[in-house]
Amino acid sequence: MAYSEKLLDHFKNPRNVGTLDKANAGVGTGLVGAPECGDVMRLQIQVDPETQKITDAKFKTFGCGSAIASSSLATEWLKGKSVDEALAIDNMAIVEELALPPVKIHCSVLAEDAIKSAIKDYQEKNGLEVTAVLEAH
Ligand code: FES
Ligand code: FES
Repeated sequence: MAYSEKLLDHFKNPRNVGTLDKANAGVGTGLVGAPECGDVMRLQIQVDPETQKITDAKFKTFGCGSAIASSSLATEWLKGKSVDEALAIDNMAIVEELALPPVKIHCSVLAEDAIKSAIKDYQEKNGLEVTAVLEAH
């Protein structure tokens, strides 16, 4: 199977690996697992309460190369976006950008779920209306 250059680049040089301080009110943490393979992804966002914009994003993925690449790309896309814009990130955009093969589509679903789960955590923590909806797969 031939993987795309972009996928290999994100896999070999993952962006924004790390941890944000959960004690910070602006930090939302999403932790999700893929039922297909047992891979686990943690993605965190830092939101500026004034602007509701995402100023930072970090991830740690215990999983396959496509899941690592998907979450790395997701953190790049998240920075600078508003919470609403982040909620609109669709896993198929990740599939397209990384040219994921069909058997790896669920890895991108994991990234979309991790984004939504992080936003949900942020919204709940701050007593905001929860607009992040995690779809059942
Ligand atoms: Fe399961 Fe990639 S997340 S194989
Ligand atoms: Fe893979 Fe839902 S987690 S389809």
